[in-house]
Amino acid sequence: MSEKATLSIRGKCIEFPVYEGTEGDVAVDISQLYPEHKLMTYDPSLASTAVCRSTVTYIDGDKGILRYRGIPIEKFVHESPNFIEVAYLLLAGNLPTPEEGKAFRRRLTENELLPEPMEHYFSRVPKTAPPMALLSAAMNNLACYHTEFLELDNDDQFMEISARLISKIRTIASYIYRRTHYLPLIYPNPNMRYCANFLHMMFSLPYSPYEVTPEIEDALNLILILHADHEQNCSAATVRVVASSRANLFASCAAGICALWGSLHGGANVAVMEMLARIHEGGLSPEECIKMAKDKNNPFRLFGFGHRVYKNYDPRAKILRAACDRVFAKLKTQNDPLLNIARRLEELALSDSYFIDRKLYPNVDFYSGLLLRSMGIPTNMFTVMFAMGRLPGWIAQWKEQHDAQGRIIRPRQIYVGNNETDYTPENMR
Ligand code: ACO
Repeated sequence: MSEKATLSIRGKCIEFPVYEGTEGDVAVDISQLYPEHKLMTYDPSLASTAVCRSTVTYIDGDKGILRYRGIPIEKFVHESPNFIEVAYLLLAGNLPTPEEGKAFRRRLTENELLPEPMEHYFSRVPKTAPPMALLSAAMNNLACYHTEFLELDNDDQFMEISARLISKIRTIASYIYRRTHYLPLIYPNPNMRYCANFLHMMFSLPYSPYEVTPEIEDALNLILILHADHEQNCSAATVRVVASSRANLFASCAAGICALWGSLHGGANVAVMEMLARIHEGGLSPEECIKMAKDKNNPFRLFGFGHRVYKNYDPRAKILRAACDRVFAKLKTQNDPLLNIARRLEELALSDSYFIDRKLYPNVDFYSGLLLRSMGIPTNMFTVMFAMGRLPGWIAQWKEQHDAQGRIIRPRQIYVGNNETDYTPENMR
């Protein structure tokens, strides 16, 4: 007999089915609690609520484990695959055969240009435009030029539009940078690999091609791989909520981009750099920074620290920390003062009972910004880089939600406002 959980409430005993995931996660299925018993659960930030069954990514937050389709994240670092292979894995559910990989890369290359009218969109943006606002708008804008993909009928169509979006987000990201710096646009080069091509579009000049160094290309590849998916985080959950209304892929990913923008999520990589820069410029010492983060009357947080799921060192942060050492040594910039400040902050936090007791460790955002900075990418573009990496994950999450054809995601609330109240006409208020 399958396992049941029992809830005893107000003299009633209610039974619920229990599900177990392939890695032993246990969940009580309370979906019939309201329809059958007019009762709700209260879980405001959904910390104890599974909203789907997923085969994409597995995380064990206590052990610091992260796997894409079952493959530990460390494998992608040590066996040097590329971001495109990881994207294919997330989308299709399996690593590509050589033929599948070639066909997918061809699709990316054929779709790296933006529709010509979209270039005008970028030419009229002010220098101060927030890059994440431009990125989200551009994602929705793409729907206007690919209307045949608003409804997806089969897997081939899905892989085609996925390749188009993954290819075009790189062109969009570079155009955002170029135009907000009043620089001329540089077209993609079909003979370059994904990361090298992006660096070329970011940094080449019409009269002088950017020379891509292998260390920088590898570091960018690594950053994108480490950001590719992270199961039901805030932006992926947003993508799913929007998808549950049967919204298309463009709209759902645009919403994910907006969710990522916030400083508690993807925007934390910007907040980390601002915090490190403030310390460097003498506005704050590392010790004061730790003190402020611990002060409950101060909204300041130690950015790049803590995670809803990881109660151990974020495995991505561990990999990026080592990558910083490697890349900085090769680039001979190991004396970046911000890296030394980051290390000092980490040392202080990891020996402080406030952080130890709450199991607050560095997350992916703590070291990613330092690497991006070493590539010459400006701070206000960091969250755009995160979005570029996360796009395959959002698309894979969207597909699961779409294919399940489930009910619209629509939580309930506990109403705590006024009871029925009379309307007071304006002249009597
Ligand atoms: N600095 C100081 N205190 C912290 C921090 C931090 N960075 N993170 C958590 N805490 C404290 C909380 O105040 C809380 O203390 P309390 O128990 O005394 O009330 C306790 O640790 C538990 O934290 P929660 O707020 O419950 O953690 P939650 O799961 O809601 O939030 C989050 C996770 C948003 C990541 C949080 O740790 C945070 O704000 N970190 C800084 C921002 C950041 O780095 N975000 C990036 C996350 S990774 C990503 O999205 C890619």
